[in-house]
Amino acid sequence: MDMKVLVVGSGGREHALCWKLAQSRGVTEVVCAPGNAGIAAVARCVPVPATDREGIEALVEELRPGLVVIGPEDPLCDGLADRLRERGVAVFGPGRDGARLEGSKAFAKEFLERHHIPTAQARTFDRSGLAKGYLESVTTWPQVIKADGLAAGKGVYVCPDLPSAKSAVDAIMEEARHGKAGERILIEEFLAGEEASIFAITDGSTLLVLEPVQDHKQVGEGDTGPNTGGMGVFSPVSTLNRRLHKQIEQRLLIPTLHGLRKEGIDFRGVLFLGLMLTDSGPRVIEYNVRFGDPECQALMRRLKGDLLAILLATAEGRLADVDLPTWDPRSVVGVVAAAEGYPGAVRKGDAIHGLEAAEEVAETVVFHAGTRQEGGEVLTAGGRVLCVTSLGENLEEARERAYQAYDRIEWAGKFCRRDIGCREMARPVVEDEEPEERVETLES
Ligand code: AMP
Ligand code: GLY
Repeated sequence: MDMKVLVVGSGGREHALCWKLAQSRGVTEVVCAPGNAGIAAVARCVPVPATDREGIEALVEELRPGLVVIGPEDPLCDGLADRLRERGVAVFGPGRDGARLEGSKAFAKEFLERHHIPTAQARTFDRSGLAKGYLESVTTWPQVIKADGLAAGKGVYVCPDLPSAKSAVDAIMEEARHGKAGERILIEEFLAGEEASIFAITDGSTLLVLEPVQDHKQVGEGDTGPNTGGMGVFSPVSTLNRRLHKQIEQRLLIPTLHGLRKEGIDFRGVLFLGLMLTDSGPRVIEYNVRFGDPECQALMRRLKGDLLAILLATAEGRLADVDLPTWDPRSVVGVVAAAEGYPGAVRKGDAIHGLEAAEEVAETVVFHAGTRQEGGEVLTAGGRVLCVTSLGENLEEARERAYQAYDRIEWAGKFCRRDIGCREMARPVVEDEEPEERVETLES
């Protein structure tokens, strides 16, 4: 199966996907649109933005790739996968209908309710006056206010009291801080518990549950400050033991797959569930329809075997036929190196030094998220600039290596969270049962 593969996107997630695909035997060339300075080392970058639907279609026409992998949510919500499938191209990523699970929190909430999947109770509003009126009547705090549409992980406000909730409504609806994404909002019950996420690849019939991996959403150490796209990652994760995994699969993932099929949605891609592990069991707090960033970087470091085989089988609806992947038993830690100002307005264009020295640290790969090449230099070009990943025999060793590598990289205004994986290290060690097969196929 010798083929070209086109990866759409330009972040750390896409760098990790290109890096792994370049190792697949059946891949003759990895092309990335538009890519970044790091991706250019493992793929041919073509300067077509991920959201330029016509541009990507023209590129596909020219390249005739055997597979297109769509990384980010925006082109998925915009229907890029549908357009390419109409041309007979194998695509990894859901169509516009499936992408609504991420593109509209109101749609996702209705979907969860229709299919009796445990979640937080919520009300939807499209007028700020009505939303504030409802908040006046609320007796339990905190409440969670969410912009309906895509907001790069930043459209959620956990509000401890009425004044903060009202100002969140104003920020989203009156000041339009998240643009059109905030024309509708959800006001949601606050769920207490430990957060977790789960990734499964599905072709609509078969689920392949991936290794547990944990992001750090807030910008500040000790989980403080505003939410970001993700500041760091580690895997495996001890809170997600096999028993809990099974529960999540039975109560959340399989009902989601059944729901999609019942609604006639042919979903081929990643189901990424944001969860709250509550006293009454795991509940869904959000759906995403793509790999997480930086979660993908950690997953690709631990995945052994052939990524192309898995993604292509998913795109072609024959995931049940592929061999189960195996995973590196070692730990991985990924530390995001961000630019000054992130997650607000950031400073860009600073020259990055020390990238080679960083990768000389044992078992280390530096994935680029927001970089560009100019002359002989790699410059910062985004809020999250790099994700420094290291493997180790245990979490401690992986952490030591990742921070040692991070410290070799320099540019003005660089920062990171120093506590990636710390909560996990403080947890008591629990022996897990034998791993089970993580693949489940629905009868047709
Ligand atoms: P989301 O983008 O929906 O994952 O929300 C971002 C973050 O807000 C989550 O990672 C949680 O920390 C928090 N959050 C969202 N919904 C809830 C909820 N219903 N209860 C408590 N925290 C929530
Ligand atoms: N790291 C969280 C996300 O990609 O949504």
